[in-house]
Amino acid sequence: MVVARASAPGKIILFGEHAVVYGEPAIAVAIDLRTEVTMEEGKGAGHRVNGHPITPYHHAYLKDALDMLWKGRPLDVRTVSGLPSASGLGSSAALSVATAGAILALQGDAQPERIAREAYAAELAAQKGKASPTDTSTCTHGHAILVDKTKQHDFLWDVAHGERKWYLHHLDVPQLTLVVGNTGMRGRTSDQVAKVARFVKRTGFAREVIRDLGKTARAAVPLLRACDKPALGARMDEAHNLLEILGVSTPRLDELCNAARPFAYGAKLTGSGGGGSMIALTDEPEKCARAISKRGGYPTVVKLGGPGVTTSTS
Ligand code: PMV
Repeated sequence: MVVARASAPGKIILFGEHAVVYGEPAIAVAIDLRTEVTMEEGKGAGHRVNGHPITPYHHAYLKDALDMLWKGRPLDVRTVSGLPSASGLGSSAALSVATAGAILALQGDAQPERIAREAYAAELAAQKGKASPTDTSTCTHGHAILVDKTKQHDFLWDVAHGERKWYLHHLDVPQLTLVVGNTGMRGRTSDQVAKVARFVKRTGFAREVIRDLGKTARAAVPLLRACDKPALGARMDEAHNLLEILGVSTPRLDELCNAARPFAYGAKLTGSGGGGSMIALTDEPEKCARAISKRGGYPTVVKLGGPGVTTSTS
């Protein structure tokens, strides 16, 4: 019996979360924590995940991916994740990518571009039709990604949804260390994206904040290439303020950012917010991590820019 395995990294959004849903640029980077998925044909009447029947409530991303991509016999799926869920580190995207990768490996067609598209479609279904391909493309390609509305140097693939089209590019990033501070509170991406959508629909002010987030992300590209940490840190602080205005920060996220800042170039929330995690760019990861845990956060030191999805069959 064929067994397919896939492994995908988590990710951090450095700049442009939320704004990227509206076509503004974003920068996201793979991290050295991964999710693994193993699949083989099962003997039961339906798909099973880690020994339990699959349910839309507990396994939304997995179920959407299987429903869309797999027409064969029920599968036994095993998942092992080094990524805390709903924490802004891309656990759902890594799971969608590893799932799509394993299914496509079973079908003998596990090309990265195809994996990125199928994982995005699954994430879109689970996020009720509002999602950018940032997370899924980053977990597929690894390294770092620049998302933009025009095609540029180091183009990888494009992904369209409705009237929007996103162009995904490889981005070289220097060896940077970030401390991630998890608030321990779950932030649901779909809720935060829906909240921002209501704000954007109602006020020109929110649309202006979205454009400013885009400007910050654009300005960060040459700073990343030049590894200008002080300037990058200042842009991170700026992005956090804009995200706070947009209503996706929380007092806990603000507190953890403030705790980290004396030991960091800058700090901001990462991902959808409403809970989840913040990141701090620092040369003193231990001090930064200690400051975060003193305020009740859960710190993890991550290295940026690991490899993307890998697949195999045996
Ligand atoms: O799922 P998270 O927490 O990594 O956030 C996703 C990033 C958003 O920009 C908020 C949504 C999206 O689809 O791009």
